[in-house]
Amino acid sequence: MLFERIEEELREACAQVCPDWPPEELRIRKCPSPRFGDYQSNSIMALAKRSGGQARRIAGEIAERMPGAGSVCRSVEVAGPGFLNFRVRDQAVEDCLNESDPERCLVEPASVPRTVLVDFSSPNVAKPMHVGHIRSTNLGDCLARMLRFAGHRVITDNHIGDWGTQFGKLIVGWKTDLEAAALEWDALGELERLYRQINQRCETEPDTLRRSREELVALQRGEAANRKIWRRMIELSRRQFDELYSRLGVTFDHTLGESFYNDRLQDLVEEMKSSGLAQESEGAVMVFFPEAEDLKGHPAMIRKSDGASNYMTTDLATLEYRCRQWPLDEIVYVTDGRQQLHFRQLFGVWRRWRQNEIPKLTHVWFGSIMGPDGKPFKTRSGGTIRLAELLNEAEERARKFVETKNPDLKDGQKRKIAAIVGIGAVKYADLLSNRQSDYVFDWDTLLSLKGNTAPYLQYAYTRTCGIFRKYGGDLAHLRETKRIRLEHGEELDLARQMIDFPLALRAALDEYRPNYLCSYLYDLAGRLAQLYENCPILKAAAETRDSRLLLVDRAGTMIRQGLALLGIEVSDRM
Ligand code: ARG
Repeated sequence: MLFERIEEELREACAQVCPDWPPEELRIRKCPSPRFGDYQSNSIMALAKRSGGQARRIAGEIAERMPGAGSVCRSVEVAGPGFLNFRVRDQAVEDCLNESDPERCLVEPASVPRTVLVDFSSPNVAKPMHVGHIRSTNLGDCLARMLRFAGHRVITDNHIGDWGTQFGKLIVGWKTDLEAAALEWDALGELERLYRQINQRCETEPDTLRRSREELVALQRGEAANRKIWRRMIELSRRQFDELYSRLGVTFDHTLGESFYNDRLQDLVEEMKSSGLAQESEGAVMVFFPEAEDLKGHPAMIRKSDGASNYMTTDLATLEYRCRQWPLDEIVYVTDGRQQLHFRQLFGVWRRWRQNEIPKLTHVWFGSIMGPDGKPFKTRSGGTIRLAELLNEAEERARKFVETKNPDLKDGQKRKIAAIVGIGAVKYADLLSNRQSDYVFDWDTLLSLKGNTAPYLQYAYTRTCGIFRKYGGDLAHLRETKRIRLEHGEELDLARQMIDFPLALRAALDEYRPNYLCSYLYDLAGRLAQLYENCPILKAAAETRDSRLLLVDRAGTMIRQGLALLGIEVSDRM
């Protein structure tokens, strides 16, 4: 919208001064200090440096060519070593708000839509999802939502771990020790118990170890009984995963587990060997990176010395399949930071294999969740925290919060609000932190109504609904017949914050960091609160009241939509 128009003007002016500069590299951002302007571009300095020009002089020439009257900017100034600062006309802000679709939050669909596959969540079957899985699930879902909203084509794939040596042990456990009632009651808990038990026995009982290997080989050979057990384990796991996904409001286009690629693995390794890309080394098959500085000492193993394929082989086959299946511009993998080397190797092998820069491959990684004591977040007895239990606790705590705020609501309504607030709070805290640093999980902070939390933002939305209830007039009619008029300082401050929504979204997408959108929404809600504090709404004279109601309506819609991009719902009562 507005910022896109300024960028356009900037690019046009620049085309006259430096015609060979790539226009897409001329960008603006929010001005770090409002004293200097609304927006700022520092692109000219970078581009001038590259082409050996004088940034300040070029910036001056560009500024001279930016149109005065009729433009969205009321001033364009050169600053420092070659910054350009832009100040936007109030009228342009007003028009922009009045003339756009509120639901789109001033975001224009990408002019060149990309096809992006997001690989996220991806838990391993036969193990309950624990608190660590929430990060990949949230972050991946949020990236998918933001990309779609920005007009891209998105494919989501849950690359579940449904194959591997653990199934030998699991099958032994299933055959010798399964407790049917426990399986019924908590399938993943029972599978986890079986695995632990057999794993432990393998350490002291050579027979159990041998038997596990045999069961694994039988499974790999396709033996019917073992296949059946394996399939059942996947089915039970998926059922429990789906329950959690539905509570979290997360869906996938595909759930192609690792096993989906089994048939391709052997050939793939052979092909890499015969093309000379991979080499035998001490019985294993490896890909070396003699030329890549960062991977020199880290060859990728694509077949183990016992002849088995591994995580890397599967990921290569997966990548190959995806590229054949869809016209992908990019694949985004969302996992924790401990897999950084794995993905660097994967991308490295792929580039050597395919010698093609498409699709772009991105590893979006994140840090750990810490308990209030600063150590990895665990139960009191030191066990892992199950995601289902964490969500239960979130809802229980939020329920108390609703009980005190709104004791008169019906029980079903309270339960619904508690889920929205509780789960929203957990998700928001997770997305708010810089994804690459560890963050401390603290119930009181994340459920607080003060500070940068989901409940705070959800309440900011709810409050707008409350104003319209009190107003009682016909909002639809108001939207159709009236316009926003920006007259007061607080109205302008809020409106100027509102027009930055697309910039916040762009920043979040550029770096795969939803926390930029979180901070933006928090500031937006703050400006809205300032408006309430300083400007009467329902008590204002009719003209002003209508304009303010529309402004509040728009701001509320933005908060609701912004939260929706984070995968968080709102409620019109809280
Ligand atoms: N299942 C893996 C894990 O739990 C994550 C898979 C991520 N995706 C991928 N294509 N490797 O660590």
